[in-house]
Amino acid sequence: MAILYNEKTKVFTLQTKNSAYQMKVAEHGVLLHTYYGQKIGDGDLSYLIMRADRGFSGNPYEAEKDRTFSLDCLPLEYPCFGIGDYRTDCIQVIHEDGSNSIDFRYKSHELHKGKYSLKGLPSMYWEEGEGETLIIRLEDKTTGVEIKLYYGVLYEKDIITRAAEVINSGRKNIILNRALSLCLDFTNDRLDMVHFYGKHAMEREFERTPLHHGRQSIGSVRGTSSHQHNPFVILCKKETTEDYGDCYGISFLYSGSFLAEAEVDQIDQTRFVMGIQPDTFTWKLGEGERLLLPEAALIYSHEGFTGLTHRYHDAIREHVVRGEWKHKKRPVLINNWEATYFDFDGDKLLAIATDAKELGIEMLVLDDGWFGKRDNDLSGLGDWYVNEKKLKGSLKELSQKVHDMGLKFGLWFEPEMVSEDSSLYRAHPDWAIKIPGRNPNRSRSQLVLDFSRDEVYQAVKDMVFQILDEVELEYIKWDMNRSITNLYSAALPAERQGELSHRYVLNLYRFLEELTARYPHILLEGCSGGGGRFDAGMLYYAPQIWCSDDTDAIERLKIQYGTSFGYPIGTVGSHVSASPNHQTGRRTPWETRGTVAMAGSFGYELDLNKLTAEEKELIRGQVKEYNSYYGLIHEGDYYRLTSPYEDTRVTAWQFVSKDKKEGLFCAVATGLQANPSPLTVKLKGLIPEAIYEVEGKEYAGEMLMLGGILLPASSEEYQACRYPIRLKKETLQ
Ligand code: GLA
Repeated sequence: MAILYNEKTKVFTLQTKNSAYQMKVAEHGVLLHTYYGQKIGDGDLSYLIMRADRGFSGNPYEAEKDRTFSLDCLPLEYPCFGIGDYRTDCIQVIHEDGSNSIDFRYKSHELHKGKYSLKGLPSMYWEEGEGETLIIRLEDKTTGVEIKLYYGVLYEKDIITRAAEVINSGRKNIILNRALSLCLDFTNDRLDMVHFYGKHAMEREFERTPLHHGRQSIGSVRGTSSHQHNPFVILCKKETTEDYGDCYGISFLYSGSFLAEAEVDQIDQTRFVMGIQPDTFTWKLGEGERLLLPEAALIYSHEGFTGLTHRYHDAIREHVVRGEWKHKKRPVLINNWEATYFDFDGDKLLAIATDAKELGIEMLVLDDGWFGKRDNDLSGLGDWYVNEKKLKGSLKELSQKVHDMGLKFGLWFEPEMVSEDSSLYRAHPDWAIKIPGRNPNRSRSQLVLDFSRDEVYQAVKDMVFQILDEVELEYIKWDMNRSITNLYSAALPAERQGELSHRYVLNLYRFLEELTARYPHILLEGCSGGGGRFDAGMLYYAPQIWCSDDTDAIERLKIQYGTSFGYPIGTVGSHVSASPNHQTGRRTPWETRGTVAMAGSFGYELDLNKLTAEEKELIRGQVKEYNSYYGLIHEGDYYRLTSPYEDTRVTAWQFVSKDKKEGLFCAVATGLQANPSPLTVKLKGLIPEAIYEVEGKEYAGEMLMLGGILLPASSEEYQACRYPIRLKKETLQ
């Protein structure tokens, strides 16, 4: 049993192989959070809570003379606003009389085998018969409003998922001003928060900051999870490192605006809450109406960030990513974007395809510019009709020719957008998100379609599906190239305008669900100006996401380092592009670009027709090599060996197969020295007492892990190496 309930102590203990999570129904039905950490039995840990009469921290009425029972100081499972807990909270409700308190107390609970599901929202899934579900129902006695707290526990994988559902079982309307998915209260530990910030073309930079008194938050109000912050956060102890110590991951399976907020309170306790961003959210619930709050996947590791990363990689690979491409080998692709931008025709695409086939590349992806009037980014979005003049024939014919060459064919779409210069916009100007009477904010010269409206998303869906029905395709790149603002939907009444952001995301998910169900053989790659919507919610529909519009191999070291903490390598779209690089102007060797792009779902994004015979030979070799390592990269364990922030001379990483028989060491030199000091890197994850071969020499695993390998001195800038590691003997004898 992974979920234990002790009738006597009223303690719930959720156990996984290496962790435990505990709650207790305390006096007056208040649901306390009493523990999350290394595995422990079901003994009641509430004795650790200090009860004291604290000035200016009041007490619920029912506590009568007990001035030590204060919601302001207790660790709570789902804190509510307006009832004497002054810390950051999960829920704020406005009632018809204008008051804004809600007071959730324990009502009942249920235990189930298997995993709950969340209709219309991405959520982790597992086989029937695996794992368990706990649902705790809390109730606000005054109004009858209820919340169901969902917990999914997958013992073997150390996964605990949380989601919630607000149900208006009362008689009157309520407005939710804030409805977050989870809270984690820690009574004792001073924690650091690790989060991943960034910008367009530089996403998911690693930042670790000590939490301080008061509130500190990261999040997005952009309508997407965003380039600027990522909905994956780690809380860890001060002493936690890459390899040792306690850490807690919180991965929010949601692709819209979000909030992650921490607060160290007056008595040095830490609270962390996460959910849909309240700044762009209100939701009206009439009598009997309900709202599901998105899921977060929690994982605890006492083996530092590496332990956490391995668990998230397995969890996302196995329990988030779905469909035919989950474990099927993804094709090595050539994308024409950085090769041609908008300047191509059918002949050019076929010329690229011809070279691609020659070099062992498996798929041609036709990026932006094949539809409507779209020769630059000023027009055409929304008109998903093939530009046959540009393609010199129909898309069907082009696809046929590409397939005849023995290549797969993929296509770019940006379905959520509209250009003002498009037939769609001219016919339906009110389909764009904008506020009547105000000029809309343009970004990349485009507006966002109001996907919350059924007729809008249906019309776009019809256009997209018509192409998919007609043309043989194995892949779609689903892009989204701006942030959302000027929030207003022509289809919503005034009191529901605050619902637009979340309704948009719900219909996006609905579209993606229909798309993946109807065309299961199509591999979907998510994209939002690179990695502006790189989150576990998107990965439920798209097994890979274009990681960044920055294809500079050296900047990618940081981007891919940050991304690797919470997302498996196979989800990271990564391409070899031209040198000098188009975003930074930096020159890097082919080997380096290849090495970095191989830490991902691999492809090329340059004009193959412009390469010399020698360069083509190099590519042929890279494709072969990548294919030979595919299983290792996509299904193996990933180790960060150095940090691109701390180790200035080299960034190194390593893949190890689950059976530890095979590995791949990769390194890129990032600093040159005259008369260089020795540079060794220690490997990880091998069997200490086994013999491995690296670069023609044999070493014990322990030698490689404790001593390391000595890297050759670099003779050119940004030199890279890739060393396969092969098990020769299981024992030293
Ligand atoms: C976005 C994507 C790019 C490319 C362009 C096309 O920026 O991230 O890869 O598809 O759009 O306009």
